[in-house]
Amino acid sequence: ETVEWEAASYDMGGHDTYMHKEISEQPDAVDRVLRGRIDDRFSTVHLGGLNLDPREARGIRRVKILGCGTSYHAGMIGASLIEGMARIPADAEPASEFRYRNPVVDPDTLYIAVSQSGETYDVLAAVQELKRKGARVLGVVNVVGSAIAREADGGVYVHAGPEVCVVSTKCFTNTVVAFALLAVHLGRIRDLSVTDGKRIIEGLRRLPAQIEEILKGEEDIKALAAQYADAKSMMFIGRVRGYPVALEASLKLKEISYIHAEAYPASELKHGPLALIEPAMPTVAIVPDDDLLEKNRAALEEIKARSGRILAVAHREQEKADHTIIVPKNEDELDPILMGIPLQLLAYHTALALGRDIDKPRNLAKSVTVE
Ligand code: AGP
Repeated sequence: ETVEWEAASYDMGGHDTYMHKEISEQPDAVDRVLRGRIDDRFSTVHLGGLNLDPREARGIRRVKILGCGTSYHAGMIGASLIEGMARIPADAEPASEFRYRNPVVDPDTLYIAVSQSGETYDVLAAVQELKRKGARVLGVVNVVGSAIAREADGGVYVHAGPEVCVVSTKCFTNTVVAFALLAVHLGRIRDLSVTDGKRIIEGLRRLPAQIEEILKGEEDIKALAAQYADAKSMMFIGRVRGYPVALEASLKLKEISYIHAEAYPASELKHGPLALIEPAMPTVAIVPDDDLLEKNRAALEEIKARSGRILAVAHREQEKADHTIIVPKNEDELDPILMGIPLQLLAYHTALALGRDIDKPRNLAKSVTVE
């Protein structure tokens, strides 16, 4: 399974930066990762390169996802998608941490290595260590034929197309969609109902148009970025599905604007970080319309009571927030995919307002092939 990358896709195509180009490409990129993989007859997903037969899939007792940086964050969302839909306990861990703690390698665990480049040394070394110990390792990788893709027993290509900007945007989104496909696939072999399989598949199909809609709001996000660009530090909060979105948004802001940012589960605020809240430390809050809405709103109140400025990303106006970016609602499970996108634009326009070199942030390389 391969995708041809045309030479033309490397030029800027009228955009000022690769990052902007790659953010804009997301509706097409998501369309590509879905293409040819959905089976409506059985409300499931076919993944050609998985090399995992249904009997083996039923035997998995645990899923462990390994990656670095943005790929690790995508893996965290992936873990919650797999646990939620396939009902297999799943978690994600930075590949380097895993590698250095002499982990127990269990034959009934499915290991999944996540990487845009497929060349990140810590991820590759974790895969090799796992293989050496006899584990089954899948790859969720963007670059076809890369080292991690070759080393893995099988996997899912992310089909984001070439990502040139040092910071990852479209590949993050596509990786999460690839995990949603894998979760439906595993789920439908196990106990995910036809109705739920269908519900998620229909949700996935709505994503490209919904991303398009979010991108249309760019001018408003640019205006917001101008208001927050003076911050010395920013707090990002979310709960459960929203927490990896907060982590990824804070990483994006740090990488290209050099503004210090922290991400916390909203529930952890009162255990310490609330001490940081003051008007000079704005908070970006992920507030989806799901069963945790009231809990998330309570966190906004706690921040407001300490005179903190709040920018919410939500499905409807949040009156406790100073500003709300409204994103279209999808299925609860797929909301994190959409909620991350306006925050890519927020980081982008903040960095632009500060005159940063967006495609080549200081001290960073696109892929870290050394230890
Ligand atoms: C992304 O914005 C980062 N620059 C970085 O964290 C990256 O995600 C990480 O180095 C992993 O790279 P990979 O996905 O190519 O393995």
